[in-house]
Amino acid sequence: MPAAERAPHDPAIARLALASLTTLKVGGEAEVWTCESDGAVRDATRADFRVIGGGSNLLVGDGGVPERVVRLGRAYADARALDANGDAWLGAAVPLPGLVRRARRLGLSGLEGVLGIPAQLGGAVVMNAGTRFGEIGDALQEVELMLDGRVERVPAADLGLGYRRSALPPGAVVLRARLRLTPSTPERVAQAEAAVDAARRGQPKARSAGCAFKNPPGDAAGRLIDAAGLKGLRVGGAMIAHEHANFVVNLGDATAADVVLLLERVRATVAVPLEIEWRRWGLPGGEATARGWDPEPVGRRPATDEG
Ligand code: FAD
Ligand code: EPU
Repeated sequence: MPAAERAPHDPAIARLALASLTTLKVGGEAEVWTCESDGAVRDATRADFRVIGGGSNLLVGDGGVPERVVRLGRAYADARALDANGDAWLGAAVPLPGLVRRARRLGLSGLEGVLGIPAQLGGAVVMNAGTRFGEIGDALQEVELMLDGRVERVPAADLGLGYRRSALPPGAVVLRARLRLTPSTPERVAQAEAAVDAARRGQPKARSAGCAFKNPPGDAAGRLIDAAGLKGLRVGGAMIAHEHANFVVNLGDATAADVVLLLERVRATVAVPLEIEWRRWGLPGGEATARGWDPEPVGRRPATDEG
């Protein structure tokens, strides 16, 4: 349909290399639906879909994905609702780094633990992003979701937040999140951030998707991979970082196949079972596709295990 014939709230649709929307810069193409209103998200989620935030915890297969990829646009990226009172509804596409800076300027405490995480707010909620100094869930009060074409509010306590996990209903798109931060001073917030910054100093600056594996109980995946002598191990353009062994870096021309093979080599070498932290799309064992809510408006069809 020509653009002019579309209703103003229709999503903008483009075929894009998902590599361009992820921090690892790996992955094939998909049809990306950029939405600037809840109505557009509603339309975009009528057929099978996936949701992308900052793309900072994603490994996308070289063949891309056949489903539409829903992306929240600028209308969801404005952090100005957060003022000195500290209690605000914010769009799910608000970039976390800018939000952390804004909170510091306003003298609001509660986001120090997520310093340095290149997520969007919605993706941070889904992954319950954080560090040992704090997680997004600490400040989260409730979320607004698009689910089966309807907007619903869900309290944070019902989201099943844990270590790098949430239990959102399948097919939910986080539209907005309500955060509650505590009045403090910019100086005290900066002081708390300094400890987080120090803990992150050993992490690589090259293209990555953060830590590849979750830490197993009582240990650190980075320590285990390092102790196995795997720093610098390389498959094609993908390498175990010299700075931190739980980071896979893209040296410039890595493919998803390179990255997958590298992860397999790590798992085959390290004696302790390691669970991959990244969401994987278009790859075996990856994240299930969210089912569109049409043409079966009553209830959702079950998600599949297809990667
Ligand atoms: P994406 O990677 O785009 O998506 C992740 C998942 O969330 C996908 O399943 C996606 O479908 C879903 N999703 C995203 N947005 C929405 C939405 N609006 N509605 C519904 N589903 C959605 N993580 C940490 O926890 N701690 C760290 O210290 C940390 N450090 C990192 C450092 C670097 C350099 C990098 C590159 C990554 C790091 N990460 C870290 C990983 C990553 O930033 C987090 O997992 C983050 O929460 C991912 O958010 P995102 O917006 O990029 O989500
Ligand atoms: N270690 C090594 N060699 C390495 C890396 C680490 O021996 O190459 C050792 C360290 O010396 C330390 C231990 O492993 O004793 C833990 O390392 P670190 O303090 O760097 O923390 P981490 O557990 O590896 C976690 C998160 C990071 C988060 C940092 C900072 C996980 C999987 N990782 O890393 O989160 O930024 O703490 O708090 O939970 C992410 O999830 O993507 C991520 C980057």
